[in-house]
Amino acid sequence: MALITPQIDVHLGQQDVERALRADVTSGLQSTPKRLAPKWFYDDRGSELFDEITRLPEYYLTRREREILYSEAATLARLTEADTLVELGSGTSEKTLLILDALHHRGNLERYVPFDVSEATLRAAAQGIAERYPGVIVHAVVGDFGRHLDRLPTEGRRIVAFLGSTIGNLFPEERIAFLATLRATMSEDDRLLLGTDLVKEPARLEAAYNDSAGVTAAFNLNILSVLNSALEANFNTAEFEHIARFNAEHEWIEMALRSRIAQSVRLEALDLTVDFAAGEELRTEISAKFRRERAESELEIAGFEMERWWTDSNNDFALSVSRPDSMS
Ligand code: AVJ
Repeated sequence: MALITPQIDVHLGQQDVERALRADVTSGLQSTPKRLAPKWFYDDRGSELFDEITRLPEYYLTRREREILYSEAATLARLTEADTLVELGSGTSEKTLLILDALHHRGNLERYVPFDVSEATLRAAAQGIAERYPGVIVHAVVGDFGRHLDRLPTEGRRIVAFLGSTIGNLFPEERIAFLATLRATMSEDDRLLLGTDLVKEPARLEAAYNDSAGVTAAFNLNILSVLNSALEANFNTAEFEHIARFNAEHEWIEMALRSRIAQSVRLEALDLTVDFAAGEELRTEISAKFRRERAESELEIAGFEMERWWTDSNNDFALSVSRPDSMS
């Protein structure tokens, strides 16, 4: 069968990314408390470190989600009869292959639509998948899931997958807005496959974000190096400490960088000087943890009806399948 050259739509250029970074850092570092958005973790080094995180003994999320997919992918293919996989924030992960293989095995696979901010990541992924499944159309989209969901191709009977509990990076109102926007792009035969990490003992949650090898600390501190190179800043990473704690009221992990001393940091490209008090924290990420009721109710508010809820053998992580609600 013919090998079809991947199509790549680019809705996000280097310029847009730079402009967004400048705007985000300018407002975030001048807010009280100070904050940065977790999307800035992922330069080349940050993506490498995240990859390393997924293999840490304490970071159970990736393994648990893979375990669920391993046992449920065939059921997913039968339940949805999908011919298209749309993957938000993709990569070339094993998880993608488990879904694509299941659709292929059922004789339905026609199209793969990876969506990511990184053009380089997408090009590599698109090429790899096109070679593995001759005859399958690969249509990659470079965009930001906060802004470009309406650019996703709508052909086919689709599974729209948002895995890894990436949705946990959003605050509750943002999650509902994101899901509602996604819902508006879906037709009645499409299905949402959503990965969500579950609420569990705080000690296990905190260990997953405070690993003994210090990889998560390096990942968190790397955001300062991103600012140093992109914005001519002079953060000294040795003067900041990695913090990760479970917020029991909101049921999310919050990660921050705590200034070890009183210090001033200069960001030359923004003509901005930022003062940190000793012990002051800069929040870099929230990672929400879910219970079934909450996931189901947020999906319902956004116009989805949950059809399946699958957990791993240890009840650590969940994958849910939802359909657009016919009433919305
Ligand atoms: C990629 C957002 C799902 O929240 O667990 C891992 C990122 N941060 N360790 C998560 C992350 C620290 C991860 N997500």
